[in-house]
Amino acid sequence: MRISSVLQVVGLSFVLIGPAFADDARWRDCRTCHAVIAPDGTELARGGRSGPNLYGIANRPFAGDAEFRFYSNDLRSAAGSGARWTAENFIAYLTDPDAFLREITGNPNAESGMHVQLRSGAREMFEYLRGLSD
Ligand code: HEC
Repeated sequence: MRISSVLQVVGLSFVLIGPAFADDARWRDCRTCHAVIAPDGTELARGGRSGPNLYGIANRPFAGDAEFRFYSNDLRSAAGSGARWTAENFIAYLTDPDAFLREITGNPNAESGMHVQLRSGAREMFEYLRGLSD
């Protein structure tokens, strides 16, 4: 009886810990520049400050971190369209930030301030960030 309840606890912690490890591994690609900080100041995912806070990024307006001062003109101008970070926009942006901004602004010279591309796993990253902000 005792042994089986110990096993149950061990089994459960595997379930709880497993996905968190996978998410941390992905976050390595972003944390040099981004953190996820809740409105009460809790740092939900550690990271740098040279990119905007990604708290609540799911469905947030473009260039929506009011405290981030270094948005590019082109991302700000894309924000003028009223578009938001849906999963589709997020995936397209991470796949090729410049191409995404060129398409959405109609400016063939638009350039993102983010010089990083994520070739795979963008949808999982979106879900991870959405989950942190729930
Ligand atoms: C080398 C630094 C750097 C890295 C690494 C980086 N970013 Fe960024 N990111 C930025 C900067 C700077 C901006 C602002 C871009 C602009 O203004 O054009 C940005 C903007 C964004 C935005 C738009 C935010 C908003 O408020 O509109 C998203 C979403 C984003 N990054 C996601 C990610 C994800 C996810 C990763 C990891 C796969 C990542 N970034 C990696 C620097 C970085």
